[in-house]
Amino acid sequence: MLNRRDLLNLVPASSLAWLWGAEAVPAASHTPQDTSPLFAGPPVVQHLTVGGFAVSFAVGQLATGWVEWGLSPEHLDQRVIPSRAGLVDASDRALVVPVSLGDRGEPGRRVFYRVAAQPLSYQSAYKLQRGESVVGPVYSVTLPDPAAPRVRVAVVNDTHEHLPTVDALASRIEAIAPDVVVWNGDTCASAFNSPTDLPRVLLKPGWAASRSLMFVPGNHDVRGASARQIAGCLAPGPEPGLPYNVARRYGPLALLTLDTGEDKPDAHPVFAGTAAYEPYRRRQAVWLRDALCRPEIASAPFKVVCCHIPLRGLPNQNDGLRLEGYASWSGDGARAWMPVLREARVPLIVSGHMHAWRVDEPAEGNPMQVVGGGPEPQNATLMVLQAEAQTLRVAIQDLSGVALAERQLTRG
Ligand SMILES: [Fe+2]
Repeated sequence: MLNRRDLLNLVPASSLAWLWGAEAVPAASHTPQDTSPLFAGPPVVQHLTVGGFAVSFAVGQLATGWVEWGLSPEHLDQRVIPSRAGLVDASDRALVVPVSLGDRGEPGRRVFYRVAAQPLSYQSAYKLQRGESVVGPVYSVTLPDPAAPRVRVAVVNDTHEHLPTVDALASRIEAIAPDVVVWNGDTCASAFNSPTDLPRVLLKPGWAASRSLMFVPGNHDVRGASARQIAGCLAPGPEPGLPYNVARRYGPLALLTLDTGEDKPDAHPVFAGTAAYEPYRRRQAVWLRDALCRPEIASAPFKVVCCHIPLRGLPNQNDGLRLEGYASWSGDGARAWMPVLREARVPLIVSGHMHAWRVDEPAEGNPMQVVGGGPEPQNATLMVLQAEAQTLRVAIQDLSGVALAERQLTRG
């Protein structure tokens, strides 16, 4: 891991504007029309596999961008310029760059990368202006290795744009250096009302520049006129039509993500005919069954499912199947997925949504369920999973790192 001083040696200070904020260091390059800083956030790594990864980053003005990568920090000899149907991608909000490692990808290998951007403006179709390109700091990621003896995962949820909480979580994540960060839903304050909300919320925290982010939408993340534009900020998973369903093997752990969607029935009048989560959950059930049979997932000593809304409720809690109120647990999700999880002996569900942490012990063949806390610093939590060959330790920690609850699961 490079420290900040290393970063300063590797890149011109002008390219580090976002590290300190736009006021402290002006951006190096401007188009005549736009003086916004070029980089508007740190890079966010997603879908890290032996074959490659995706990198997203926010931009403050219209720009093209790319990723330079290599096997040492001094030798970033590969460049990936994202394009679609021949036209190089450009955005004034965010760029998403898919990086394929080809035959250079090996389990456990460290790969170095940095992002770059270049301002673009159009006077007319044949009069395009380009600003000076700038590069960000060099980061590294370590490719997952199913044979690794241990893996550590940090889970955050229900941050709801509470910046002191996000900052404290980012510091804790830096301190414990997990291999993976799961953002388990309800990232936005209440809804994504404006296109600018998405990069501002999703690509702001710096907790996934040196490790992979697994993003799981919450019920608030699918609300608002701009909620459909998440794909402009975060890369979808490999399954067509199921962008948030991912099953990945990290050392002894298989991590699977499910999208519980909204917290009320599709027919609820507040959705005005825009909700189709019930068939989506059925489709995810088919995916889940297949994913759990994949050799690298089936052979994992521990399998953990992350979803925003709990799949188990407490007595008399609303299951979200009626028009009154809203779900404390997803009755429809449980109906679709719990039989599959039981059959595959998945020992742990990790969820959020309730803004109060709790542990539901395994019961009646159902997995243990841990529920993370809420957005305010006093009820926010970081959940830490540490898997080794024979044990999976789960801790729910407060923002100072004190364990509120700890459990240890042994390989069954
Ligand atoms: Fe929430």
